[in-house]
Amino acid sequence: MAYQLNLNWPEFLEKYWQKKPVVLKNAFPNFVDPITPDELAGLAMEPEVSSRLVSHSDGQWQASYGPFEHFDELGETGWSILCQAVNHWHMPSAELVRPFRVLPEWRLDDLMISYSVPGGGVGPHIDNYDVFIIQGMGRRRWRVGDALPMRQFCPHPALLHVDPFEPIIDEEMEPGDILYIPPGFPHDGFTYEDTLNYSVGFRGPNGRDFLSGFADYALENDLGGVHYADPDLTVRQHAGRVEGYELDRVRGMMIDMLKQPEDFKQWFGRFVSTPRHELDIAPAEPPYAPEEVREALLNGETLTRLSGLRVLNVEGCFFINGEAYAPADARATDLLSRYTEVDALLLGEALDNPAFVAALAELVNQGYWYFGE
Ligand code: SIN
Ligand code: CO
Repeated sequence: MAYQLNLNWPEFLEKYWQKKPVVLKNAFPNFVDPITPDELAGLAMEPEVSSRLVSHSDGQWQASYGPFEHFDELGETGWSILCQAVNHWHMPSAELVRPFRVLPEWRLDDLMISYSVPGGGVGPHIDNYDVFIIQGMGRRRWRVGDALPMRQFCPHPALLHVDPFEPIIDEEMEPGDILYIPPGFPHDGFTYEDTLNYSVGFRGPNGRDFLSGFADYALENDLGGVHYADPDLTVRQHAGRVEGYELDRVRGMMIDMLKQPEDFKQWFGRFVSTPRHELDIAPAEPPYAPEEVREALLNGETLTRLSGLRVLNVEGCFFINGEAYAPADARATDLLSRYTEVDALLLGEALDNPAFVAALAELVNQGYWYFGE
């Protein structure tokens, strides 16, 4: 099912994105849940899916990680099941992410789905990503506080909560409503009903993530082999002192490494095209011959990108799933990064380029694209 999102994006980005939380009433009109609580519980039993069960009673919080073998001990109140990256595993749910493709793909994290019974929830907390919480089945009261410095504490080793806060938003959400929350705003969902929530999350990596990712790339590719040098050294009165100019020189060496445009691009493309959650990759069996791929497309079939696969064009360099990708046809490869579905009409003349068709067949055989919708 295709979801229609009623949202004035330019206005939303200008007023709210990364600035303040907002409730977007009836953003998905006539909302139909793409998944049932039973299906979600089934996913939480799969080893590939990262899932959590959070419960509380009498002020005592419990949390455990999946995969779960059964849910027999759960009562009728006070718990939530949460599954990450459901868009990688459940195609009807992946449809919910599609309307968000007006935002850059490299910023998208995943679709997390929670099912809560009355009294269930993860408790008041702060996230460090932007999240669009879509209300599905049931109604849920969401409270959001201002982004003020707050005490954080662990009521359980797997949970990070904040102290009670004054709400700036306190609203009962109904199916199809969206609550958008930027990083740093405390929030808490409370429900009297069985309810499903869909969180489309966008996480900006922090400087630490970038630096350690770049350091990994530098090690793997033997970058930065030049040693510190000081042919201008003079006699020191104080051998124990590191001089300012020496610090500057060290910093300069490090900045020079980051300043190499090609290395920077090659690192960044690999870094951001690496999925943050496991993918459901199934190589084509039996593999396709290039000619078969071409024929199928010319016969009107559509190639669909594996859900969650990152295909990025970084200033003309292509990256797929954490690896650099040499394009046989730059225009057509750009289409693969731009659209999640391609057909003969879109690919056009590229299908007459044997090198492109062979490369495309390879991508299909790896399980990165598949025929069908
Ligand atoms: C939930 O769906 O219960 C949690 C979503 C969130 O707070 O980010
Ligand atoms: Co949250």
